[in-house]
Amino acid sequence: MGTKMGLALAAAVAFIVAGAGMLAVQAQNAPTPNAGKDAFNAECGACHMPFQPEFLPARSWQALMGNLSKHFGENAKLDAATTTAITDYLVSRAADTVNNRQALQGLSPQDVPLRITETPSWIREHRRVTAEVVARPEIKSKANCVACHRRAKLGVYED
Ligand code: HEC
Ligand code: HEC
Repeated sequence: MGTKMGLALAAAVAFIVAGAGMLAVQAQNAPTPNAGKDAFNAECGACHMPFQPEFLPARSWQALMGNLSKHFGENAKLDAATTTAITDYLVSRAADTVNNRQALQGLSPQDVPLRITETPSWIREHRRVTAEVVARPEIKSKANCVACHRRAKLGVYED
């Protein structure tokens, strides 16, 4: 193969590769209905289970998502686009958005609980769960829903 033809071919290949790369980037940036949910499951499920958005009002999720660098002693900060996508998803499914009366019970509009486990509803539902039980090595935290509710990740909490 002559040098000229080789160069032309190389340029053509480079052009095609660059074009494909641009398409891939476009596809990644295109908002899809599940983008926020997928990011939520991946990012917010990295340290604990991804808690169901239906347990907290929108204002709580907005407060949590607005302060991820100081997240219960951890830095959970994400880039702006991911933060927005996750916030939109959480707000679209929040307790007050979907009118989850059970989760909202006892909360006044000024209350902005940053923990599900600090909501009046959660406290009432767990009034028979003693501190000794929570302290067991296999449980350790009230926020460890999965330790007591095997199907918590599926949103199943009965029994
Ligand atoms: C780097 C680890 C880490 C990441 C990532 C993380 N969290 Fe957390 N999160 C924690 C820790 C630690 C706690 C406190 C757990 C405890 O008290 O047992 C917590 C607690 C929480 C609680 C309160 C649980 C309760 O007690 O009711 C919520 C709500 C929460 N996280 C939401 C999120 C959301 C939303 C995201 C994603 C944007 C996220 N977390 C990502 C570490 C993380
Ligand atoms: C130490 C064990 C334990 C942990 C941890 C725990 N739960 Fe529970 N939960 C229980 C028990 C036990 C009940 C049933 C209470 C009763 O009937 O007396 C319950 C009840 C509930 C209910 C009411 C179910 C219904 O039928 O209406 C919900 C909702 C719930 N838990 C959510 C959660 C969430 C969310 C978390 C984590 C943030 C969590 N729980 C963590 C033990 C636990």
